[in-house]
Formats: sequence, structure tokens, C-alpha cells
Amino acid sequence: MDRYGLIPFFEDLHAHPELSGAEHRTTGKLLEALRAAGIDVLDAGLPTGAIARIGGKRPGCVIGLRADIDALPIREETELPYRSRNEGVMHACGHDFHAAAMLGAALALKEREDGLDGTVKIVFQPAEETASGAKRMLATGLLDDCEEFYAIHSYPWFPAGTLGIKEGPVMAAPDRFRIAVRGRGAHGAEPNTGIDPIPAAAAIVLAAQHIVSRRMDPFRAAVVSVTHMEAGNTWNVIPEAAMLEGTVRTLHAEDRDMAREALRETAERTAAAYGCTAAFDWREGPAPVVNDAGLCADAKALAEEMGFTVDRQKGTMGGEDFSEYLNGRPGVFVRVGTGGYVVSHHPKFTVDERALVPAAEFFAALAMRRVKRQGQGEIRNSDFGIRN
Ligand code: NI
Repeated sequence: MDRYGLIPFFEDLHAHPELSGAEHRTTGKLLEALRAAGIDVLDAGLPTGAIARIGGKRPGCVIGLRADIDALPIREETELPYRSRNEGVMHACGHDFHAAAMLGAALALKEREDGLDGTVKIVFQPAEETASGAKRMLATGLLDDCEEFYAIHSYPWFPAGTLGIKEGPVMAAPDRFRIAVRGRGAHGAEPNTGIDPIPAAAAIVLAAQHIVSRRMDPFRAAVVSVTHMEAGNTWNVIPEAAMLEGTVRTLHAEDRDMAREALRETAERTAAAYGCTAAFDWREGPAPVVNDAGLCADAKALAEEMGFTVDRQKGTMGGEDFSEYLNGRPGVFVRVGTGGYVVSHHPKFTVDERALVPAAEFFAALAMRRVKRQGQGEIRNSDFGIRN
């Protein structure tokens, strides 16, 4: 039963998607609903996004819950009655679902506030798709006291009623590289008078394929993709330079360092073998998202008590800035089955609304449980420093 009107709230957000950093209407709707329920909204001083606080009246822990709220520059191709009215913008990653579910968790926790130990802070984060919103929310300092963090993410490959809870790495570090290969231009008929950067760039692309196949531990996952090449502009001129860019995805810090240095070396030395130079530029994305094993076990036990099916989702080499919240504290990135069976970031991506109310209830119950300080003799998993 949708006591809080979460389904119409979700449909309204879906119909009015907003791009990263421009979530003004979405933020307004969330603030309106939070304030109408008498929920404290902390002054983050940010143009979009919000932090709600519930509890703080009884001793206990401070737990953070995070939903992202931004949409993507995609033209929606679903036939939903509530499809996007904002041409060229679409909630194709379920962030409308996340916002509505965490609003539901906030409303449910507010109702149970008298029995709530500790404090729950609920983060409605802007700009996840540009990997900049988490840093912005953390920079407010308002989340420094959170001891654990939990995130919600829709998952199209599980039906409603199934949660994906898996310990260890669940999202990759999405790093970006750019390689500028410099040679010396010449007439296309006289290659000997110049230094052609194009064969050098091509050799770098091929050599880079060996980083995953020959340098990585075969039991670990990594991706090196060259996704963009540019060189020259006509048929009879050897250009001065060529450009390559792409992405490296890894799940462990040491693999990330290895792949970066291997790629740098491959670019520089391969270019040198062709008489060219290569300038290597590396833009680090968020760290991998690593779920805490102890907290996963507890979340899984709760989910099963509540009648959810718990499954181990497929791995993904996608990136997520939720890892910023887990810098120095444990947490879990929970995937909520939303059916649809169309990959996220696709124009036909949909969410099964039946997953919404149970997801809100789950995160409220999880927070109620995790804020409790354990009695003497009992120690929280995170006190053991169980990380992986
Ligand atoms: Ni997403």
C-alpha cells in the first residue's frame, strides 16, 4: 500500500527529469515533501540536492542513506503515460526511483522517530552522472559524523522483491586517459621526410590490449578501452599528431596503479619505437565501490526477515561516486530489483513501480536497526574494522 504517495511522486519526477547540477525542480519537490512531514532539512548551502535529518533525540549511531537525483541527456523512447516531458532528458538510470524511495524511507523514519535511537541523515545527491555530486555533499561537512553509509540503486535484471547485496567490490574505478602522439607532418607521398604518428597510434591501441590479457591477475577484472581516435584531416597529408582517449576500469587500488603505469609505459615506449613522442594524461574518477562484508551480512539478514529474495548481482565495471562516502567508513551499495530488463542509460529503460514501497520500507528498517548502539559485550561489525 502506497501510504505516502510515493508512486505518484516517482511518476512526477520521471516526467520532469533534470540534468546533473540542474536538479532545481526535483530538489524543490523533495524539500516540499520533507518539510510538510516536519522533517529537518540541514542547510547545505547548495543550489541543488538536500540532506534530511531524522532522530537525534536518543543516543545511538549516525547512519547515512544516499539517493542520487539527476537524469541523463537521453531522448526517452518508452510508451509510459508519465514519460519525460523534458525533451532530450530522461531518468534512464532510476535516480527518480532512488529519490522517491529514500523520501519514503525518510517519511517512515519520521513516523517512528520516538523509537529511533541515534540519527539518520538522508542525502539526496545531485550530479552523480558527472561524478561530482558526492564530493559536493561531503564538502559541506554535514556528513562527517556518519559512521556507516548505504546507497540504493535500481537493478533491471532482478524482479521487484529481490535485492542485490554482495560483499566486496561492486562498482569499478572509472578512470579516463588521453594520449597525444606527436610526429612530424609530411606530404603523403614522402613519408620518409616526416614521422608519421598514425602507425604509432595504431600500435599503441594494439599494445594496450595486452595490459588486461598479460599483466592482470586472471582472477581479477579490468577493462582498457580506447574509445576515441583522431588524426589528420585529408587523404594526402601525413599529420603532425594523433590523439587517443578512452577509459580504464579496475576494482582494486593496486590494479588501478598497475594499469595506469602499464598504459603510460606502453604509450611512451611504443611511440618512441616509431620515432614519435606520447604525452600521457590520466584523469582519475571515483574509487571502486567496495561493500563491507559484515554490514552486507546484516543487511541481507534483515532483507530476508522482511521477505525479500536476496541475490548476488552480476558485477559491473561501471563507476559510481558513492565510493566517496566510503572513504574511511564502511557501507553497502544495495541494488534493488526493478525489473524492466533493459540496461540503464538506454532510452527504453523502465522501473517496476511495485519495487518502490518495499524499497522505502527496507531502507527505513535498515537505518532503525543500524543506529542502535550495541550493548556491552556486543560489538558492531564495523568496530572490528571488517573491510575488504
Ligand atoms: Ni545510476
